[in-house]
Amino acid sequence: MYLWRKRANPDWVRNRSGELIRRFGSALAIIERPKKVRSLLEIATTKKQGCDLVREFGGTIEKLRADWLQHFAKQSRAKPLRIGSRLIVSRSADSKDKRTIVIPAEAAFGTGDHATTAMCLRILERVTRRRDNGWTMLDAGTGSGILAIAGSRFGAKRVFAIDNDPLASSTAQRNARTNRARNIEFRTGDVLKQKICLARSSSRRCQSGRGIWQGTVA
Ligand SMILES: C[S@@+](CC[C@H](N)C(=O)[O-])C[C@H]1O[C@@H](n2cnc3c(N)ncnc32)[C@H](O)[C@@H]1O
Repeated sequence: MYLWRKRANPDWVRNRSGELIRRFGSALAIIERPKKVRSLLEIATTKKQGCDLVREFGGTIEKLRADWLQHFAKQSRAKPLRIGSRLIVSRSADSKDKRTIVIPAEAAFGTGDHATTAMCLRILERVTRRRDNGWTMLDAGTGSGILAIAGSRFGAKRVFAIDNDPLASSTAQRNARTNRARNIEFRTGDVLKQKICLARSSSRRCQSGRGIWQGTVA
């Protein structure tokens, strides 16, 4: 596998991101960095696609080593991530602390390393702090299932977790089993085409993906 990389200013990203998303879908990552004006764009590609991208848009390509996943996992955070006083995200099952959830570094996005995942976890922890149990959560684009599992730990009665990538979906289900999060309903599919009833008692809350989700947390 190859990785195409380019640093780009906000105008470039605004003008080209639609086209890149259409062409590369979830293989594209747009990474905004604190205090940096330019974003980093990365696309997992074949060699030919990578060369075409360099010709078309500039940037560089790099051949990834065969064990790239393990390599990245070793490079990134080894320490458990603490979220408020109620959650600890760990890579391994070493900890005996009951607040710990275990999310190994795997192919699906969401180990807590990424700033957006950590930020969502912190917001989720904060907004659910004073909620009675019984709330429902939709995790649209669940990746590793980290937010759904955290929601389950924070007291959600039901969690719907959807991803259009079958690999992400199966990783998320395995992570939910490991963490004994049994109240998560997983679906594989495009969230924009789903119809989910977040509250059984109110038909007004049944919305298609392009409608407004009520009770959505992530
Ligand atoms: C950036 S990851 C976020 C993972 C996790 N929620 C987190 O915060 O760490 C986005 C996920 O959304 C999924 N995704 C993208 N578009 C989607 C769509 N239209 N329907 C369902 N899932 C989608 C991708 O496959 C990917 O796993």
